[in-house]
Parts: sequence; structure tokens; C-alpha cells
Amino acid sequence: MSQSQTIHAPEVIHDVAALRARVRGWRAEGLRVALVPTMGALHEGHASLVAEGARRADRVVTSIFVNPTQFAAGEDFSKYPRTLPTDLAVLARVGGHAAFAPSVEEMYPPHFCTGVTVAGPAKADLEDRFRPTHFAGVALIVAKLLNQAAADCAIFGEKDYQQLKVVTQMARDLDIGTEIVGAPTVRESDGLAMSSRNVYLSPEDRARAPAIYKALTQAATRIAAGEALAHVMADARENLVSAGFAVDYIEARHAETLARVARRIDGPIRLLAAAKIGATRLIDNIPVSL
Ligand code: PAF
Repeated sequence: MSQSQTIHAPEVIHDVAALRARVRGWRAEGLRVALVPTMGALHEGHASLVAEGARRADRVVTSIFVNPTQFAAGEDFSKYPRTLPTDLAVLARVGGHAAFAPSVEEMYPPHFCTGVTVAGPAKADLEDRFRPTHFAGVALIVAKLLNQAAADCAIFGEKDYQQLKVVTQMARDLDIGTEIVGAPTVRESDGLAMSSRNVYLSPEDRARAPAIYKALTQAATRIAAGEALAHVMADARENLVSAGFAVDYIEARHAETLARVARRIDGPIRLLAAAKIGATRLIDNIPVSL
């Protein structure tokens, strides 16, 4: 960035009323608004979501909220990285206009007692098999954020592919007027998908972590070349196990419905994986080109 370029600090908003007032003001000026929901610990993957928001709208609000309802007991809610000052610096660099950083009490006031249950993609037997309460928490907080921000579009990373499908379904079913947009996964130079949880990886595990992307890309190439799906996916699992992963799943699914697919012609196909290296659970996914 040249020295002459001005970096604008994003406006930090902590309460829903102020968020609504800010968005209302932008709308009154005829401006389009994008929402980028995040849990903070922003990295280049998030920066690309904000950039996508800026391509589609005049103002981008990034929500930063570590949502307790999407973590089960024993998951990493308390140790999840909370880095608001550096998050604001990232947003300033990429041109985010506002950060919505509410407290837990603001989002879940006393006597809060409403839930959002999604079936379909939320019951695909992928993440939901290992995190059975996760998507109820995601659907709830995203429904709230979409309702609060009333943005024209909201940008979600394809890295959390099942989440993207769940949020799309929920927004459609609840007639939420915000367009849900998926944006491509951003990767490190060795292929590892960027994730706020990568900070948990020990140096040894970090060195082995790209094996998950390698297993997926090898499998996608073989399926595209016409090899039998079941055989290829069994090899992919084996490759991950040999690289030291404890595999939760590595599967070929229909890219839209997440239903199981037996043959390449049943696609479009998405390959999805979740596996633990050391104490860190990584997820990733890629399309199979036709
Ligand atoms: O993907 C995430 O960071 C979270 O699941 C989301 C969508 C911000 C909801 O808390």
C-alpha cells in the first residue's frame, strides 16, 4: 500500500439499536450494504470476504462475535481466539466500514428462549454427526445477525461448506430478504485452508496439516478422470490416516443437497473432509470439476 493511501478505522458498534440506525442512515443515502458474519481472529480468508462484500455493496459491516450457542460443552468456546484490536486493523486495511462487536448479553439477553432448527443440509450426516448441536446455534445467530443488519447481501466462506448450505436454506425458508453469497476458500501457499483455528496447530502438526487438501485434490482429480468414487474415497481416507490424521469423514456429496452420491454423473460433486491432527480438528472441501 502506498503511503498516500488513507486507512480509515472502521466504526465500532456494540449494540443492535446503533447498528440498525447506521444501516438505516446508509440506506437513506441510497447505499447498498453487505454483512460479513465472523467470530473474529480475522485472517486473509476473512479479508477476502470483506473484499467480496465491497465488490457487491457500498458499505460493509463485519460482525465479530464468538457465538456461545454453536459450541458444545467441551469444545473450544473459552479458548477461541479473541483479538478485537488486530481484527479492527485488518478491517481498516481492507476497507471494512463498520465492525459490529456485541456482547453475549446484547445477543442473548436474560430470558432469551428462541431456537432455529434447520433440517435438510443441517442433517446431512457430516459436521452434524460430530457436532449435533452446532448448526442450531449457527442458524440462530445468523438469523439474528441478518435480521439486525438487514443488509442487501451477506458473505460466507465456502470453507464451511455445510454451514453455507444451512444458512442459505434457513434464509430461504424464513423469507429473509438478504442475498446469501458464498465466497471461495483462501489457502496458505502449501494448500492449507485458512482458519482461525490454525493457530492451535503445533509446528509439527502445521507441517502435516496440508495433507487434508492434498488428499482432497488427489481424489477430485481421480474422480474427474472417471475412477470409481467408492474406491477413490477409500484411498483418500487411507492417505489421511497415513499422514497422521484421525478422520471424522472424507466423503463425496452432491454439491447442492449434500446427499450421498454413488457415481460421478450423480453430481455436481463436492468432496468434504473433517479430521483431527493432534488436538486440532480441521475441515476442508473442494469441488470435483466435471
Ligand atoms: O463461520 C463462522 O465464523 C460462524 O459460524 C458464523 C457464521 C460467524 C456464525 O457465528
